[in-house]
Amino acid sequence: MLDAALSPEDREVLLDICASVDNAATRMLDILIAVQDRFHWISPGAMELIAERTGISRIEVEGVASFYSFLSLAPKGRVTIRLCDDIIDRFAGLEAVTEAFEEAFGIAVGETSDDGAVSLEYTPCIGLCDQAPAAMINDLVATKLTPDRARQIAEAIKAGQSPEDILLGPANGLAPYDRATGLVDNNIRHAGALLLGPVPDDAGLTAALDMSPDQILRVVEASGLRGCGGAGFPAGTKWRAAAQTEADHRVVICNADEGEPGTFKDRVLLTERADLMIEGMTLCARAIGANEGLIYLRGEYAYLRPHLEAVLAERRRSGRLGSAIMGVDGFDFDIRIQLGAGSYVCGADRALISSCEGLPGEPRTLPPYPTTRGYLGFPTIVNNVETFSHAARILDIGADRFRDLGTEKSPGTKLFSVAGDCLNPGVYELPYGLTVQELLDTVGADDAQAVLMGGPSGEMIARDAFHRRLGFEDLPTGGAVIVFNGERNILEIVEYYMSFFVHESCGHCTPCRVGNVFLLKAIGKLRAGLANAADLDDLRDLSQTIIETSRCGLGTTSPNPILSTLDNFPLVYAASIKPSKDRLQASFDIQSAIDRARKLAQRRSYIFDQDFGA
Ligand SMILES: Cc1cc2nc3c(=O)[nH]c(=O)nc-3n(C[C@H](O)[C@H](O)[C@H](O)COP(=O)(O)O)c2cc1C
Ligand code: SF4
Repeated sequence: MLDAALSPEDREVLLDICASVDNAATRMLDILIAVQDRFHWISPGAMELIAERTGISRIEVEGVASFYSFLSLAPKGRVTIRLCDDIIDRFAGLEAVTEAFEEAFGIAVGETSDDGAVSLEYTPCIGLCDQAPAAMINDLVATKLTPDRARQIAEAIKAGQSPEDILLGPANGLAPYDRATGLVDNNIRHAGALLLGPVPDDAGLTAALDMSPDQILRVVEASGLRGCGGAGFPAGTKWRAAAQTEADHRVVICNADEGEPGTFKDRVLLTERADLMIEGMTLCARAIGANEGLIYLRGEYAYLRPHLEAVLAERRRSGRLGSAIMGVDGFDFDIRIQLGAGSYVCGADRALISSCEGLPGEPRTLPPYPTTRGYLGFPTIVNNVETFSHAARILDIGADRFRDLGTEKSPGTKLFSVAGDCLNPGVYELPYGLTVQELLDTVGADDAQAVLMGGPSGEMIARDAFHRRLGFEDLPTGGAVIVFNGERNILEIVEYYMSFFVHESCGHCTPCRVGNVFLLKAIGKLRAGLANAADLDDLRDLSQTIIETSRCGLGTTSPNPILSTLDNFPLVYAASIKPSKDRLQASFDIQSAIDRARKLAQRRSYIFDQDFGA
């Protein structure tokens, strides 16, 4: 195992890893992921050498290594099992699965076995809510876990079998696509007209080649296509802004970070429609004059990387990527995959760009907008996987046919990832404009009490709002639909999601970092029956402060689980408060909140010490 005093062999391996990305500091994340994979931690000696090779300081290297939860500054096991600790997994039996693993390995979650064979951890949503409980085992994933299956996996690991052999069988010489679908079910429950039904090969790109860049932009603008990652910003407007910025180099980035708990529709597109998504990126490059592309693939989807690399390689081989694409002189565009390393905030475009540049994934300030000054200072488009896929279809069928589907302000179809208490969890492609009740009927959710629309950063609605329509006119969503039946405890769900935001805050701004810990504690007090009516006002006030003073979308949406349930489930709160004059506020102890924030966010203490003079 590599440590501070590097052996000559370890040194050689590290030098090779750095050289594989030309010793570029901007590829720091790739370097550190490779080191983590090879040595199972980022040792002090490794950081020294990486700093020397890439020409930055050791403290900067450590700043990156300590930011991402899949990178470790302490030795980890040769196999790391990351149990998905999403609320859906908890409801699906995570506790019993965890106990089975703990018992079999003789370690608790958070520990590494003495022989260095295995580490057991929890991680937030890994995008497999439709087949929970699930876990990552190194770069692979295991789904629909039971205690028996956990024991089998543990015994096989103890017997020295590799995760590949255990999860894919001993003769796992499968093609990359078969490997991905061998691990994970797609669960496509409804294929709509645009994305999940039959799709002709490169019809959109072929049509785009007969158009000028401006004509392509006009088709995308006329279609009214809105971003499918959550915010719904018009894609055509964004593309035109990048095209109009003076530059000799532009960049197209596909956001495949899909970190919102409950969302997994991009996982299915990446598996089943990778060509379509890349086609969309390629015609975006044509429209804005970009030469460079990146797919930012969340670390949890590392098992999809070989499949995506194979699709990219085949497109290069067949002239649909690389130089003179489809024989058009000067149309040069290629794509590399940037793997993430376990950070939700990196899905936010400004944090994602930092991450692609080898930095900690802290969102940078606006302006300048990425379309003006993005990746490495170049005008950059960041769009969601589904947005690029739609763009390719629009260039094929035309803006009018796209607009025939959906509603006026939300044209086209949308992919919904549906999970939780329903008969048929999975992915549904449906036109915008249907009601929540229609969706619930389609997915077999007869006993829905609450629906979390758009994940925890969205809105939790109650039965009296099931008539609302999905779309930007009424109920927007990036696609996550999580159904909770009448047996679920709303405050338990809210508490879970607040702990998620506490865990994922990048720690840059105090309101988000500390305020969310206060909110989490407040929900704990409510659940313990220790809060009174006035404390609910304090909850609202603090939520508002966090929204108004946070720097990025994580902070500005983090109080949503509380605010939307306060509004939509007032009786739940009314039933939880005690008629006392004690103020919840009085029971807060700022130091203990900060200590808890530090522990949960795993941030270095000097940040807190600076802020609070501790
Ligand atoms: C905390 C946070 C996480 C986000 N995660 C994602 C994500 O995983 N995928 C995504 O496409 N957009 C995500 N977004 C939205 C992106 O910032 C950006 O708006 C989006 O990628 C733009 O693409 P679109 O217009 O095609 O939706 C996130 C935003 C925030 C604030
Ligand atoms: S709002 Fe939260 S996640 Fe966003 S920059 Fe501030 S601390 Fe980081």
